[in-house]
Amino acid sequence: MSATVYLETFGCQMNVADSERAAVRLRGAGFGLTNSAETADVIIFNTCSVRERAAHKVFTRIGEVRRLRLAKEPIVGVMGCVAQLEGGDLFNNSPSVDLVVGTRATDRLPTLIGRALNGEQRVIDLDERAETEKWDVPATARTSKYVAFVPIIEGCNKFCTYCIVPYSRGREQSRPASEIVAEMKELRDYGYREIHLIGQNVNSYRPKTEAGLEGFTGVTPFCRLLRAAAATGMERIKFTTSFPRDFHPDIVAAIEDHENLCEWVHLPAQSGSNRVLRAMRRGHTAADYLCRIATIKNARRRIAITSDIIVGFPGETDADFRETTRLVKQVGYDALYIFKYSERSGTPAARLDDDVSQSTKTDRFLELENLQQSIQRKVYDAYVGRETRVLAERNSTKSNDDITGHSTCHKVVNFPRAFVRAGQVATVRVTEAKVNSLYGEVLSAN
Ligand code: SAH
Ligand code: SF4
Ligand code: F3S
Repeated sequence: MSATVYLETFGCQMNVADSERAAVRLRGAGFGLTNSAETADVIIFNTCSVRERAAHKVFTRIGEVRRLRLAKEPIVGVMGCVAQLEGGDLFNNSPSVDLVVGTRATDRLPTLIGRALNGEQRVIDLDERAETEKWDVPATARTSKYVAFVPIIEGCNKFCTYCIVPYSRGREQSRPASEIVAEMKELRDYGYREIHLIGQNVNSYRPKTEAGLEGFTGVTPFCRLLRAAAATGMERIKFTTSFPRDFHPDIVAAIEDHENLCEWVHLPAQSGSNRVLRAMRRGHTAADYLCRIATIKNARRRIAITSDIIVGFPGETDADFRETTRLVKQVGYDALYIFKYSERSGTPAARLDDDVSQSTKTDRFLELENLQQSIQRKVYDAYVGRETRVLAERNSTKSNDDITGHSTCHKVVNFPRAFVRAGQVATVRVTEAKVNSLYGEVLSAN
């Protein structure tokens, strides 16, 4: 098979990881990967459905591709979360779609494309992964040459009432630690200096076997995995996302013990109101959450904390929203991702009346954003004069003279690129705090 495939990815890091995996399988089957949507024989969109706007993007892109390719229409496939959720309806709603590939069918993508190329219409696969399926992606096939994503758990069993992910990704399935560790060692040997252990909820990690965790202590398997990961000697290890209810203090102990476990925790609160948290079925109260935060703040290393908040959940009153602003003030986040509630069909919250008006959602969004900016100014100002280790990732889009990357505490840091190339780790002294980034001078790089 010598057809070419153009693969475009939306959504979270799990989709990026899945696309890498799909690309490996495609190359293995003899397909060529191309960056040109104009010439590719096959166009695949790896999609996200977390909010309405994200889900809609694929339809916009399909329309654009159709206009671009009026002369010679390619095979168009939809994979990822929208594919899993919409299934065969996609063929009816979007007649250009020839192929629907669910979230667990990545490994079968070459065969499915082959069938479509052979003229079969409406090719669809929404089945589970095969038992024998391998998760690993070779170091040579990564999207970024400098930061690699390593999935440790996929799916979600939490069923927060607003969220579509458990339906699109299925139940939690953890990967054996031995495989994760082997992949990390390969990435380390290949020259990667930073990896992210990824999953919808990394700290719900629960592998079927002990393999790879032997000798590593901790109360939860995730803590033991963190220690096993640290022992690989990979220079910088980050992990995301952590689920508050399953956040055990042991995670903080592991970060304290191992310099290469980066000092950053993403712990989404979603709301500060107990009433709303209950309606969201998050399984934690504001006090439980703040208790986890206190453990993180009391650590011997300063650990950066970031979070997600949803504003305008059905029934959220002004008083509820005040509880959220109060929590945000109390924590003093390093960064906050704010979302307006978006009704997802099929979730329990979709049966509730989406009664907070768009304008109120916007008001709350903006108020929270302003609040966070003032908090962030103080947090960022405190970095001025301090040294931080930054992995240089790419030239800055804002200035030709600068390069940009992330610190170990996962802040964007820009600095002059004269003496540093992408892929190097620079010691940077922070000279200036911007709204969402730091600026600094290079002391050394290696
Ligand atoms: N597993 C992670 C989050 C995955 S989705 C967790 O539990 O924290 C990423 C973020 O999208 C969520 O944290 C939430 O803030 C937001 N989100 C999910 N569903 C949403 C919806 N229906 N409307 C608005 N935001 C949503
Ligand atoms: Fe969605 Fe909740 Fe699962 Fe996160 S934990 S993916 S918000 S259901
Ligand atoms: Fe989106 Fe699916 Fe990820 S809905 S956020 S791509 S798990």
